[in-house]
Amino acid sequence: MNSDHVEAVVFDLDGVITDTAHYHYLAWGKIAEELDIPFDPSVNENLKGVSRQESLRVILDHGGKEDKFSKSEMEKLASQKNEYYKEMIQELTPEDVLPGIMELITEIKNENIPLGVASASKNAPTVLRALEMDHLFEYCADASRMKRSKPDPEIFLTVCEALEARPEHSIGIEDARVGIEAIKKAGMYAVGVGKNLEEADLTWESTEHLSWTSIKNSFLTKNSMARRG
Ligand code: G6P
Ligand code: MG
Repeated sequence: MNSDHVEAVVFDLDGVITDTAHYHYLAWGKIAEELDIPFDPSVNENLKGVSRQESLRVILDHGGKEDKFSKSEMEKLASQKNEYYKEMIQELTPEDVLPGIMELITEIKNENIPLGVASASKNAPTVLRALEMDHLFEYCADASRMKRSKPDPEIFLTVCEALEARPEHSIGIEDARVGIEAIKKAGMYAVGVGKNLEEADLTWESTEHLSWTSIKNSFLTKNSMARRG
């Protein structure tokens, strides 16, 4: 196989393909309010890319209430958050795909490069269907089958394997710090969307500025430099 070739592009979902990161924030905000825990965007930054149960632990920790709830109470809280979230995402339509994403995906597909989704969300298939995008991805990881959360590379490695792509020849796109860390640990090329993502190989402030030509050229330059040592 030609090594000057992108073998797969793997997208995070929430905050990259659509702004569901905001709905996760609102749904957790309701739970935090019910528990009388202060909650703001800075706490939310630590929840991006983090699983439902782990997010709850972060919020309880933040409110100094980490020991106040039994396992079953915590399960109830997490499932209540999911009910709020599911109600919010019922309104999703193809109009909610973030600017620039469809154009980027079209350009990648024109080169016959397989696409995957590596989201920690168990709601990912529902969200992709609501956006009418499920047919665009060759593979979407099943979050419930992952043993380890981002920043562990497991989910990105699983998607690369399913797409028969070598991680060092694949690109991951993320909005979360833990997500960028997971991509790098997988040995892939990391594209960050948003702020505070210094670990990424390339970052953009927002999705509308994403350019496939720039991503590809930067990836190819890095790979050819790595080959030359
Ligand atoms: C993504 C989001 C997180 C969310 C997680 C689990 O990684 O960035 O904010 O907590 O998915 O989502 P779920 O829909 O399964 O609760
Ligand atoms: Mg995300």
